[in-house]
Amino acid sequence: MSVPVAVIGAGRFGTEHLRAFARLPRARVTAVVDPDLSRATAAAREFGAVPFPDVASLLATGPPAAASVAVPAAHRGTIVPDLVAAGVGVLVEKPIATGRRDAEALERATPGRPVLVGHLLRFAAPYLRMRRLAEQGALGELRASRTRASRHLDDFPGESLVRLTMIHDLDLVSWFVDDGAITGVRATATWRPDGRITSCRAEIDVADGPAVMVSGDWAGGAHDEEDVLVIRGATTTATMRLGARDGEIRSGGQTERLPGAAEVYAEALADELAHFLDCVERGTPSARLRVHDAVTAVALADAVERSLQEGGRHVPLG
Ligand SMILES: NC(=O)c1ccc[n+]([C@@H]2O[C@H](COP(=O)([O-])OP(=O)(O)OC[C@H]3O[C@@H](n4cnc5c(N)ncnc54)[C@H](O)[C@@H]3O)[C@@H](O)[C@H]2O)c1
Repeated sequence: MSVPVAVIGAGRFGTEHLRAFARLPRARVTAVVDPDLSRATAAAREFGAVPFPDVASLLATGPPAAASVAVPAAHRGTIVPDLVAAGVGVLVEKPIATGRRDAEALERATPGRPVLVGHLLRFAAPYLRMRRLAEQGALGELRASRTRASRHLDDFPGESLVRLTMIHDLDLVSWFVDDGAITGVRATATWRPDGRITSCRAEIDVADGPAVMVSGDWAGGAHDEEDVLVIRGATTTATMRLGARDGEIRSGGQTERLPGAAEVYAEALADELAHFLDCVERGTPSARLRVHDAVTAVALADAVERSLQEGGRHVPLG
């Protein structure tokens, strides 16, 4: 039996969710919700679903089994708690919330429920491979960076580099490192005259753990987009690079070729959505992507921004 799914938010990434669900035989997209009704209607027509202007009118017709929420965090309002209260399994895009307090409130409201947060790297094959390499010995250093084209500043006028792009690698830190051992953050950045951050470096302190550096840039050209992860341990040094056209993992004198970022992340999204449907069918939370991990990523993003506001001061992660 297929799982009825609603996609909330039919913008750039909601459309990726729709396409990915359409390829999963186990999913049946039944509803598309977007206050931009022309958008909702066009997407609903394309994917054989019913359009709705808001979640309240969707729920009034009977809740679907599952919903993915691809609405920017600042515009979500009570969408996620309302869906969860109606018994709907929810995959909400990252970041889980705009700040730690709201993220923790959401965590408290969703215990034991099939609620996932779209931290895609946890499903991306090259990152899973790097995670296995990192497990081979004590980790001494972790460096993650993400370069995106400067047009992101125009394409995402209301969003920040830290919360839209770096959040992926901030989550990666709590995936690779015991998140209870993260003690604080120190960050530096460069800004445009209008106050928008164009690049940011965050040093994350881990008690008895590796040296951790996470960086992001919205300063590249269209062909500079690249994701890099370097891990160093007593016996392991591995470097992963993922570009638009291709990538590689270099480790122990071997080079493993990777497809380009679009292919890697499309496969990751398909795996993430399939895992989400498993959780919905079982009625359980995900052991692979706990809501608590997403809360930690937001807490780290808050600490990065506070450190920037306070001139690069060390901000403890309480
Ligand atoms: N996991 C990833 O790799 C990844 C990649 C890109 C974007 N994202 C996330 O996806 C989310 C959406 O990003 P985007 O780039 O698609 O944004 P977008 O601006 O392109 O689309 C957002 C859509 O949400 C709609 N919307 C606004 N308020 C709504 C509401 N109350 N109910 C229903 N719909 C509403 C808007 O009308 C718009 O169509 C963000 O949280 C972003 O961080 C994740």
